[in-house]
Amino acid sequence: MQNNGSNNGSHNGLDKASRLPGFYKLSVEERRELLRHRADLSDQDLETLDGGGLDTAAADRIVENVVGIYALPLGLGLNFRVNGRDVLVPMAVEEPSVIAAASNAARMVREGGGFVAEADDPVMTAQIEIVDIADPEASVARLEAAAGELIDLAHATLPRLVDRGGGAREIEVRAHPRRVVVHVHVDCRNAMGANMVNTVAEALAARVAELAGGRSGLRILTNLCDRRCVRVKARVPASALGTAELDGAAVRDGIVAASLFAEDDPYRAATHNKGIMNGVDAVVIATGNDWRGVEAGAHAFAAQSGRYRPLATWRAEAGDLVGALEMPMALGTVGGTLQAHAGARLAQKLLGAADASTLGMIVACAGLASNLAALRALAGEGIQRGHMALHRRATSPTGHRVVGDRS
Ligand code: MEV
Repeated sequence: MQNNGSNNGSHNGLDKASRLPGFYKLSVEERRELLRHRADLSDQDLETLDGGGLDTAAADRIVENVVGIYALPLGLGLNFRVNGRDVLVPMAVEEPSVIAAASNAARMVREGGGFVAEADDPVMTAQIEIVDIADPEASVARLEAAAGELIDLAHATLPRLVDRGGGAREIEVRAHPRRVVVHVHVDCRNAMGANMVNTVAEALAARVAELAGGRSGLRILTNLCDRRCVRVKARVPASALGTAELDGAAVRDGIVAASLFAEDDPYRAATHNKGIMNGVDAVVIATGNDWRGVEAGAHAFAAQSGRYRPLATWRAEAGDLVGALEMPMALGTVGGTLQAHAGARLAQKLLGAADASTLGMIVACAGLASNLAALRALAGEGIQRGHMALHRRATSPTGHRVVGDRS
């Protein structure tokens, strides 16, 4: 089943206009005041923006050997329209120009009607490895025949997940030359799900080993969660793409050529995907999610055909530029980090994405926007002019802006 977020109309952030011309010209204080009204922020929320949402005592409860807190800038990606709804996109990132570039690209996509996104059900996969199997073929047959029993066992382990509409969906048995691996596909609803599927893997391992006639090896999730993908499309009229030097059709064709380069060459695909992850990671980090897991899933997915491929591709269609991105997206809108981290809670409040699938779609839109911005710059003036202007700003003692309209 796929989710296109159309049932999320009541979540406040999605209904707020995300087009805020001149936002970049305001002081930080003025931006916060605007945000207070736009996103119903309380005084406490504004304080959270100042402190980052984490004090040393809270940090000490999250990880070990704490000596302090590491901060990142938090900015807002603007102009995003996803499945017909505006959304303000919180982005935590240290690299200058990522937020401006994504906002700029989102404005272009908006001219073509905005992003269209869909998400798979939030299914994570546990792997149970069985080794020292005497008769692999017979063991696969026994395991497949016991799928119902294994699903019942998984449900007995996670009764509350079942109450919330999630649960084990399928047992898949994969035979390798030296091992048999059982995949338990679990719908984790709004959790990222690592804890749930690891619990399931450990709970089922003994019975799986018994059925297989072998010894249980590793029991852990896979980060290649290819049953939990998001897909995003953007259509941009060529007229929205023009630069000072190039008309829109030339930029469109340059972006298509850049996409084909990435499709032909894994060295370029890696950099192309890095540009996507600029946007993806910034939102994943801001919302308190496990960006290492998202990164691992993204690159494993990119290489799944046996060759490393771009996660997003671009083509010309009826004169427009059309981009499509597909990638795994393991995110949660509930869970431990959110309880401990007020900054992550605030980012999720700003987004207004109450469910993990909607959050995943928005994250992917930030990725596609970042990719579009990078390819447009590369197809035209090159990345250095705009990028370095923002770098200079970051390192200038006055911090004055040295680039034009970045809304
Ligand atoms: C820099 O952070 C990202 C880019 O290298 C992405 C790309 O080359 O597509 C500009």
